[in-house]
Amino acid sequence: MSAIARADAAEPATVATKQSSSTVPTAGAAEPAESSSHHVGAVVYFSSASENTARFVEHCRLNELGIASYRIPLRPGDEPLAVHEPYVLIVPTYGGGVVSKAVPPQVKRFLNDPDNRAWIRGVIASGNTNFGEAYAAAGRIVSAKCKVPLLFTFELMGTPEDVRKTREGLARFFAADGAATADQAPVAPVA
Ligand SMILES: Cc1cc2nc3c(=O)[nH]c(=O)nc-3n(C[C@H](O)[C@H](O)[C@H](O)COP(=O)(O)O)c2cc1C
Repeated sequence: MSAIARADAAEPATVATKQSSSTVPTAGAAEPAESSSHHVGAVVYFSSASENTARFVEHCRLNELGIASYRIPLRPGDEPLAVHEPYVLIVPTYGGGVVSKAVPPQVKRFLNDPDNRAWIRGVIASGNTNFGEAYAAAGRIVSAKCKVPLLFTFELMGTPEDVRKTREGLARFFAADGAATADQAPVAPVA
């Protein structure tokens, strides 16, 4: 049996903090969805001060799907986020076209915690196509390093179609055992 819990068997979201109780800011759904009868999975995302990714997550209304969302803190002094359930990471690309710097340091720090890394099941990446080959490169890097599928990419804060695809894809992904094991091929890619 896998040491990794199945998404549909996961306990309601537990987000522990490693120091004091400052903030675990979210796009409005820090707790397991109140409007949903069941908790099916989680999204962890990073968003800088420009908040594009935060807006995208907000537009996805994940709490309606039973999917909790947790935001990786922005500032180095912020309390680290610790996640204890299967999640899909949504990561914007930074690095200014330099692929090796594409993953924001805050996200690297989050994933360098072995406990956090153990629960990642997939990654969705954003970026700006102006960066050419470095577009959404953070997704490819996280996918390769964490051995999870790159499920979807979108630009900036995403289009309504991106939101629709992500909602449908994440619902399928968490419902269809896509989050069961880290080394399993995706059952239901987001797109
Ligand atoms: C300094 C900087 C560097 C960026 N580098 C890349 C890049 O290499 N590749 C890419 O696809 N997008 C790049 N972007 C675009 C961001 O990924 C995009 O604006 C994203 O929506 C930012 O999300 P956020 O507002 O949630 O932080 C960069 C943006 C900035 C401000």
